[in-house]
Amino acid sequence: MADTPLGFFYRETPWRFQAEWADGAWTEGELTSESTITIDEGATCLHYAQQCFEGLKSYAGPDGAPLLFRVDQNAARLRRSAERLLMPPPPEELFLRGVQACVHANRHLLPAADEGGALYVRPLLIGVGPNLGLRPAPRYVFRVFCSPVGPYFSDGLKGIKLLVTEQDRVAPRGMGSYKAGGNYAGGLMLTANAKAQGHTEVLYLDPREHRLLDEAGSANVFGIRDGNTLVTPGSASILPSITMDSLLQLARDRGLDVQRRDVPVEELADFEEMGCTGTAAVITPVAQVTHGERVYRFAAPGAHTKALYDALTQIQYGLREDPHGWVTPVTAAQAAGA
Ligand SMILES: Cc1ncc(COP(=O)(O)O)c(C=O)c1O
Repeated sequence: MADTPLGFFYRETPWRFQAEWADGAWTEGELTSESTITIDEGATCLHYAQQCFEGLKSYAGPDGAPLLFRVDQNAARLRRSAERLLMPPPPEELFLRGVQACVHANRHLLPAADEGGALYVRPLLIGVGPNLGLRPAPRYVFRVFCSPVGPYFSDGLKGIKLLVTEQDRVAPRGMGSYKAGGNYAGGLMLTANAKAQGHTEVLYLDPREHRLLDEAGSANVFGIRDGNTLVTPGSASILPSITMDSLLQLARDRGLDVQRRDVPVEELADFEEMGCTGTAAVITPVAQVTHGERVYRFAAPGAHTKALYDALTQIQYGLREDPHGWVTPVTAAQAAGA
């Protein structure tokens, strides 16, 4: 694996965890080496996108042992998505045990910290079992698999280029704040179009008026203005990013003024720095945003973005004090549910 640069791709690993729900109860769940899932052709995840998922990373700590970052927040967000989609949420205990077991079983594939990589962990909840009518599935599968990954954006700290799209990812008062697979399918073409025009990713505006910043294709966004103010959209149609929540705390810890509020698109002109945040994107500086005829440019990486990146990643890799209690070790005992 050391020969191939770690990008953000699916690489099959030996073990994944799976539990099933039927008749009101979850099975205990277990590790399996089977990387495929056999489901009924009538499964609701295939027809009606009754599906939601999570994404988090496990990082190699100073002794090489795996760490997890704010995994309890992913459990809570999957619960919220599942409830919105009329799916039975895996109890927090099952979610945490599934993630621990999957990472522990594949820990020999954890990239070293100095490669800047991690094991990306993908918990998945899908409606299975036949249903032709538009009704929730009779059975569900909860699966957790993982894959060694490197940076999501290959442009990395040089800064990426965003293109404001005239189309929407989600609807006002729709599903944007839930991590549902259906939100992403419609964005594939928009990201592909942006890439074909030389940009890295799309930037969405609020779906009601196209006046305010929303988020990028797979990450929240923020700007730094007036030397010490961090601004991020307070939109109801974006995914509540766990990385952004952490970044805001770290920014407050650094004495920055943090504002989560409506951000008119023209305010891009006031940003000195801009960045994207997410589990995959970590904190990626944005060098440029194109909106119609206007092109906004930012320092990449700017001083605040770089300092926040260092603070976040050093906590994630266990290299600095963790004052907010965000990091948990992966242990054989926790993987076994002790
Ligand atoms: C649409 C979208 N926004 C934001 C994020 C960032 O969320 P998090 O920081 O919890 O990974 C993601 C996932 O990475 C996402 O898919």
